[in-house]
Amino acid sequence: MGSLIIKGGVPLHGRVRVGGAKNASLPILAASLLSGGSSTVEDVPELLDVETMCGVLSSIGARVSRSRNKVTVDATEISSFSPPYDLVRAMRASFLVMGPLLARMGCARIALPGGCAIGSRPIDLHLKGFAALGAEIEIGYGQIEARADRLEGARVYLDFPSVGATENIMMAAVLASGTTMIENAAQEPEIVDLANFLNSMGAHVRGAGTTVLRIEGVPELEPTTYMVVPDRIEAGTFMIAPAIAGGSLVIENVVSEHLKPITAKLRECGVTVNENDDGSMFVERNGRPRGVDIKTMPYPGFPTDLQAQFMALMTTCSGSSVITETVFENRFMHVAELMRMGAGIKIDGRSAIVEGQNKLLGAQVKCTDLRAGAALVLAGLAAEGQTEVSDIYHVDRGYENFHSKLASVGADIVRVGSAEAERAV
Ligand code: EPZ
Repeated sequence: MGSLIIKGGVPLHGRVRVGGAKNASLPILAASLLSGGSSTVEDVPELLDVETMCGVLSSIGARVSRSRNKVTVDATEISSFSPPYDLVRAMRASFLVMGPLLARMGCARIALPGGCAIGSRPIDLHLKGFAALGAEIEIGYGQIEARADRLEGARVYLDFPSVGATENIMMAAVLASGTTMIENAAQEPEIVDLANFLNSMGAHVRGAGTTVLRIEGVPELEPTTYMVVPDRIEAGTFMIAPAIAGGSLVIENVVSEHLKPITAKLRECGVTVNENDDGSMFVERNGRPRGVDIKTMPYPGFPTDLQAQFMALMTTCSGSSVITETVFENRFMHVAELMRMGAGIKIDGRSAIVEGQNKLLGAQVKCTDLRAGAALVLAGLAAEGQTEVSDIYHVDRGYENFHSKLASVGADIVRVGSAEAERAV
């Protein structure tokens, strides 16, 4: 079974390079369906989720080729508008092909994406947008079907600034006739990256990164070549690593603007965070950090995808901290596992109160989801003794060579078993 064995207490020193963003790569690969011909996407991380998305694209007729961090998608021939159930169930982001298929084919039939460990993950805002653009929506037998001979531009208000809904509606609207306005849109950097990709194909998307997107539909798009934005969540995870384990790290290939919330919070804890002239970030632990409160919010607030990792840091800080998760309803699955390592955490509704401990003790713990897994690895770096983190395929979904990068800067961490065996269960 795929596990990581970590011997804690070793300070980190050295440089790590952050890869391209998973959560930009997935919608951008889906968007490649919007034109015939071959689009090439560069700096795509080698992750299980990327492999799944490439499988979804191939299953509906696109020709996909991958070499390391470059993916080429030839979407000239789309032979189906209904990707197979097992692939969609394997990864909810597969649902991001709905908008492009609806725009390109006039039809899409996709299995209802299930919930997952962190929440029910509804798609009502995605469907609200498709319906506003004129699609007929039918739900039945675990499938959703959307049909529209021609999508018409419309004004859509998102009750919540959903990242996926903003992306799906944007991708449907770029080939619609007329103008679409998405209000209360998500502002994440991955939204901006998708908009930049679409515009490089000939789309007219304006306002990405603000709460109002304006999309002028065009008759067709052209294939393109595009490099994905660096992964701010991977970067933030590596910024927390020296803060919890000790030592210092230089983190390369980052956009410091995207890291403001984590930079501010680490500084509040007493951790040194400096931006180097070459754009890399220098992070150094200066004695035991102080506990600080965080509240996760849509961008530009503190990212929910760094909540678990930051909580791991708070478990060994001096004093207490209150961690409030406002984006997902069940994103504290890592708490029980951290408590197995001696963490002092009490959940009160959507908040977790963390009492900093002098130390954590190594234990056998289990990944429950992608970011919880990363948090447990970080906790293992700081814990006294050995920690075994099992079900590590969760981490493989979002981090390329996570343990190798940590080992390269001094962590005592080895991988045992294989992800394939893990997933075969
Ligand atoms: C994206 O998920 C990311 N995934 C998530 O990253 C990230 O945590 C999340 O955005 C928030 O930033 C990808 O980009 C592939 P949402 P998404 O729609 O789009 C509610 C990771 O670890 N909602 O912004 O699914 C929903 O219930 C993953 O890399 C509706 O109510 O997130 C949730 O409470 C985990 N109706 C909130 O919005 C809808 O139709 C945020 O969801 C859609 C969403």
